[in-house]
Amino acid sequence: MIIQPRVRGFICLTSHPEGTAQHVKQQIDYVKSKGKIENGPKKVLVIGASTGFGLASRITAAFGSDAATIGVFFEKPAAPGKPGTAGWYNTAAFEKEASAAELYAKSINGDAFSDEIKKQTIDLIKEDLGQVDLVVYSLASPRRTHPKTGVAHASVLKPIGQTFTDKTVDFHSGVVSDISIQPVESEEDIHNTVAVMGGEDWKFWIAQLKEAGVLADGVKTVAYSYIGPELTYPIYRNGTIGRAKDDLEGTVPVLNDLLQDIGGISYVSVNKALVTQSSSAIPVVPLYISLLYKVMKEKGIHEGTIEQMQRLFADRLYANREIPLDEKGRIRVDDLEMREDVQAEVAKLWEQITTENLEQISDIAGYRNDFFNLFGFNFDAVDYDKDTQEVVNIPSIKD
Ligand code: NAI
Repeated sequence: MIIQPRVRGFICLTSHPEGTAQHVKQQIDYVKSKGKIENGPKKVLVIGASTGFGLASRITAAFGSDAATIGVFFEKPAAPGKPGTAGWYNTAAFEKEASAAELYAKSINGDAFSDEIKKQTIDLIKEDLGQVDLVVYSLASPRRTHPKTGVAHASVLKPIGQTFTDKTVDFHSGVVSDISIQPVESEEDIHNTVAVMGGEDWKFWIAQLKEAGVLADGVKTVAYSYIGPELTYPIYRNGTIGRAKDDLEGTVPVLNDLLQDIGGISYVSVNKALVTQSSSAIPVVPLYISLLYKVMKEKGIHEGTIEQMQRLFADRLYANREIPLDEKGRIRVDDLEMREDVQAEVAKLWEQITTENLEQISDIAGYRNDFFNLFGFNFDAVDYDKDTQEVVNIPSIKD
């Protein structure tokens, strides 16, 4: 079928199999160009492995460190006349590239919050790898059904305490406008967001993996967080999602206790703001990212998800030195984003930005391009007017 982008708000309903394969290939080529990561991980489980930071982590482990990888995610397979989701196509492309490079790669598609998927994952590790030496936790989801209580929690993106009003952009039309977001009405919203995006599920994973004996001595586990500039604090770090990130970060000492007897360790890495399916859903953030991209590209310090993850692995997690941590014990690969000169310039542009000057003073074009790339669009090598085979299988997933 012919697959063109069909956009609704901040999501794209279609994905292109050849374009997503290009996107994956570009990331693999980048990791290869950086050379092998000495003493990198060898057997890796990535939870949330099909898009964004999780996919980039999987690619870095496989192609930077020859690691065997198991990826868990929640994606829609393609059916005749119905394209699959980007993460489905990404994984199909990844597994094919891994197989061509003689790297073990298998995937599990299902709800990572459930006990059933955890069990399936444990069984697969036992059968094929014995144990894993790195667990990457990179889920981003709007909801979670709690495996013990059966309660369906929905996360919300809201400020806490007072209404937040600031600029935002509709990145398709380029209209900059003011947006007011009402604060949470009850503790319930906070509780639900923490239940979805906080650390409990990460803890459940690590506890169950350990209990099953599938974590190697000296295992590492890492999850991802975000801080960002003061201008996004009301909606991000001081809002409901920030409470969830506090909870995630607070899980590190709990996991360290749990892993102590096998010499394991856990980390949270604070990453840079980037265009992913999740971040495009947060009001205000796309406008901030457009300005950030402009400033960081001009300074020659821009990074995408793959550059971030390659640096996290090569220069932090597996570098031949003690891992530098901030005062709260976190790894920081948002260091370039948070540089004073970068933030000062972004803040200056933020004051000036309007619909009229958006194209000139921001990198909205780069934002849009990255957004379409997520779904396999805007790649020169792909002819989007041509028929493509929409039904693509992930080799390790049987019907
Ligand atoms: P993403 O939306 O690109 O990826 C989310 C992944 O989670 C996908 O693989 C998806 O299939 C999987 N997933 C979602 N629900 C699932 C479920 N129920 N069961 C199994 N898999 C499920 O998101 P992104 O942006 O890569 O986020 C990953 C982490 O990085 C999150 O913790 C996010 O807060 C964090 N982060 C994101 C930043 C950004 O700017 N995008 C910045 C810093 C941190």
